[in-house]
Amino acid sequence: MWTIRRPLEGDGLRLRALRLRALRDAREFFLETLEAAEALDAAAWEARVARYNQPGRQVLMVAERNTDHSWVAMAGALVDHESESDDFNLPDPPVAQGDRWAMVWGAWVERAHRGHGLADDLCAALYTWAADEAGVDWLGLHVRDCNSRAIRFYARQGFDIVARRSYPAHRVTALVMVRAIARACAGASLGAAPR
Ligand SMILES: CC(C)(COP(=O)(O)OP(=O)(O)OC[C@H]1O[C@@H](n2cnc3c(N)ncnc32)[C@H](O)[C@@H]1OP(=O)(O)O)[C@@H](O)C(=O)NCCC(=O)NCCS
Repeated sequence: MWTIRRPLEGDGLRLRALRLRALRDAREFFLETLEAAEALDAAAWEARVARYNQPGRQVLMVAERNTDHSWVAMAGALVDHESESDDFNLPDPPVAQGDRWAMVWGAWVERAHRGHGLADDLCAALYTWAADEAGVDWLGLHVRDCNSRAIRFYARQGFDIVARRSYPAHRVTALVMVRAIARACAGASLGAAPR
């Protein structure tokens, strides 16, 4: 049983611990390096909590276990104009000019909790945010082409592969996957409910 919620002011060090666990576990699937994340001080993590909690612009969801309140999973999203890199855009088609979109980032579930629907609940919370708060037409993401488990997960969630991109600087190839939010809304449940 867990609750999906947003980190709040004062949660910086808890976010640090969660993100470092994710980077240690799956560093090959994230662009941020463990070393860079470890170097950030407490104030920087608190600043991240604030940045990821900007209504309609950025969001971060974490899964908190109901038994001991430990955090075991996370996923974030940011709308198009919040992106710091041109690498993170979506192709036209299917994302037509004038469409608004947001990118999912940082999805991670602690190994012991995988395969139990936790990632589904995080996605449902992001769909609700995307539809009701950000008002975007699409959610997109980049996933390493070798990350078969994540690709299968996102495909089951209704994301389609629409492009393949190479990033020589990082020596990786990623698939771009998108999901229409109107379609997502139809099946989304409120992400804040405990289960
Ligand atoms: C991606 C992630 C968030 C998905 O959460 P999850 O709890 O593992 O998701 P699920 O188990 O519901 O779905 C994973 C799918 O992969 C399948 N799968 C399970 N073990 C697998 C394995 N070892 N290899 C490939 N696929 C596997 C599952 O059967 C499921 O497919 P299905 O829908 O056909 O049954 C999680 O695996 C994770 O944190 N991975 C490491 C970080 C990461 O890759 N993040 C994504 C960055 S873009």
